[in-house]
Amino acid sequence: MMKIQNSIIILVFFTILSCQKESKPTYKDKSLPIEERIKDLVNKMTLEEKTLQLTQQICGLNTNKNNIGEAIKEIPSGIGSLIFFSADPVFRNSIQKKAMEESRLGIPILFGFDVIHGFRTVYPISLAQSCSWNPAFVEKACAIAAKESVLSGIDWTFSPMIDVSRDPRWGRISESYGEDPYTNAVFGVATVKGYQGKNLSDPYSIAACLKHYVGYGVSEGGRDYRYSDVSRQSLWETYLPPYEAGIKAGAATVMSGFNDISGVPASANHYILTEILKNKWGHDGFVVSDWLAIDQLIYQGVAKDRKEAGLKAFEAGIEMDMKDNIYVENFPELVEEGKITMDQIDEAVSRVLRVKFRLGLFDDPYTPVLDEKDRILQKEDIAIAQNLAEESMVLLKNEKQVLPISSSIKSIAVIGPMAKDKSNLLGSWSFNGKAEDVETIYEGLEKEFGSQIQLNYAMGCDFDGSDESLFQEAIASAKKSDIILICLGEKKEWSGENASRSTIALPVIQEKLVSELKKTGKPIVLILSNGRPLELVRLEPQVDAIVEIWQPGIAGGTPLAGILSGRINPSGKLSVTFPLTTGQIPTYYNMRQSARPYDKMGDYQDIPTEPLYWFGHGLSYTTYEYSPVKLSTNNISKDQKLKVEVTVSNTGTKDGKEAVLWYISDPVCSISRPTKELKHFEKKEIKAGNKVIYSFEIDPMRDLSYPDSTGKRLLEAGEFYVHVNNQKIRFELL
Ligand code: BGC
Repeated sequence: MMKIQNSIIILVFFTILSCQKESKPTYKDKSLPIEERIKDLVNKMTLEEKTLQLTQQICGLNTNKNNIGEAIKEIPSGIGSLIFFSADPVFRNSIQKKAMEESRLGIPILFGFDVIHGFRTVYPISLAQSCSWNPAFVEKACAIAAKESVLSGIDWTFSPMIDVSRDPRWGRISESYGEDPYTNAVFGVATVKGYQGKNLSDPYSIAACLKHYVGYGVSEGGRDYRYSDVSRQSLWETYLPPYEAGIKAGAATVMSGFNDISGVPASANHYILTEILKNKWGHDGFVVSDWLAIDQLIYQGVAKDRKEAGLKAFEAGIEMDMKDNIYVENFPELVEEGKITMDQIDEAVSRVLRVKFRLGLFDDPYTPVLDEKDRILQKEDIAIAQNLAEESMVLLKNEKQVLPISSSIKSIAVIGPMAKDKSNLLGSWSFNGKAEDVETIYEGLEKEFGSQIQLNYAMGCDFDGSDESLFQEAIASAKKSDIILICLGEKKEWSGENASRSTIALPVIQEKLVSELKKTGKPIVLILSNGRPLELVRLEPQVDAIVEIWQPGIAGGTPLAGILSGRINPSGKLSVTFPLTTGQIPTYYNMRQSARPYDKMGDYQDIPTEPLYWFGHGLSYTTYEYSPVKLSTNNISKDQKLKVEVTVSNTGTKDGKEAVLWYISDPVCSISRPTKELKHFEKKEIKAGNKVIYSFEIDPMRDLSYPDSTGKRLLEAGEFYVHVNNQKIRFELL
């Protein structure tokens, strides 16, 4: 009897065990390949579950002023993604718990957010970052942003923005890496590497999102959300290369643009979203639309209603619908009508799930919960933000070596609306940044100069308006000081999304303050904090020195003060040209040659044609001498490489860091080519009195070819030039 009982118990035990084994579905088995898990899961999903996976909604408080006022909807447990307007990991985990436990299949939610230049440790805006010419620092800074994001509940950031931007009226130029395709590519790649780390499943990795695919920077007249006439030639030559580089670097996702590319809006553009991105480049992650961009296809005049808009966006290649709910609402009908097949939906869902699997969300859906003091603003992280700020600041002018401030200076008048400002130094897109974390310019100066130099502060005026009542106090401060430091610039809301300006000059009140201070006869150092190149045509002649600090984030005060005192030797160079006046726009270094380049033909009659500061401009406190460039050979064949080398000597008395920028030009080709194109750069430290060799290996197919309007790269034999500093050396491709 006992024996029978035992056998029954054993039988029951094994039955339970085998049932349990059976009940663990393939997609939950960590040991299996991701593709197998995806297939299993997709096979188990209903149409409704699938469309929810293709949908992104919001949760938490939406502080994006362009998108404010959205009701916080009840979150469906099967939702694919949420934009997480919160920084609370416990809140995130409770929403995730609902998805894991209340949805039928337990699919984790992907939490996305705009972490653009830092989460809480806000570092300089992207436009500033590229002026550092130090992608290694940018990668480190992005890794910090990723860590703080993960610990605050975020898995995915809508960054980097790699839209080549040549119109400084466009507010979003601040989010880009400037006017050059190669620069955007290099910094875009550094950003992707920083966010995604070695592996997306690493604990502190987040998924990157290349945006806004593609050509958004061409928005007509620098207005936002407008038509952008992008020829296939410039698409391939200028706007696609940063995206191709980002995809090669493994960017998990892509966001489509708001813009209309020559009649086919980016968000309904099969050519760019499917033919190029997926078929040609082999991207296997997913594309998310921009905010309400699918619905916007109606305003853009290519869809009559939401259903047609959804169909067009999906057919073009957008897998995830940001905020619109168009897919959820219309897919059942579209499938029934045979306009969308289940295979198409399965393919799209697989792409979304792939990113979730790669992030490790199925196996570890919750974020660790640490005390706030352990998850943000770590000392070593602030130091990185500070290093990046330091290297991104650009000394634009330094007449009679007014900088660094000489030891004979005993008092400085610190004037201007930016001098004690905290919040504007954060720049746009710094949702989790807090003014209280910011070190002001004034605080930096106090720390730097201590009691050695008397600081005489006066605000002088507001950022705009016409109130001159504070002028007198500022003039009095200037009169009792040896030198004037005037801190001007743009409020953070003046750049970023939906923040275009018809003029890139500073408001009249700020310019007027400088004119009044000029009358005191004291030397003037102009400190600028802004999110775009500025028109300095009236200000520049009145001041002795100019330091562009951009919007440096939380740690700009100390680096600026170090530059002013001479403790730090400035090493930033512009990644974007400063036009002399707004009327010169567009002006960028890699324009094509004029048909009549001689005798000032075609120039403006009323203003000079040359910009004030070209791309690549930036001064130092030391002097560098470039040796004649050495070429490994003067003639190369198409499958050979050419090594070019230059020795740079620091001939001054201060250690410095010099970024060497290498360009190529092709004077005769079947199509006209830009006057020169940046192909390589490197920044190295050179101690005073020392020299350092910089080199660049020219790969003909990569560096000398050009794309035709289908993206095919063509290489033509003939003469080429390599440009570095002010040298231009000829070589020949046989
Ligand atoms: C912007 C995107 C941003 C998205 C989500 C849109 O308005 O264009 O850059 O990622 O909002 O906040």
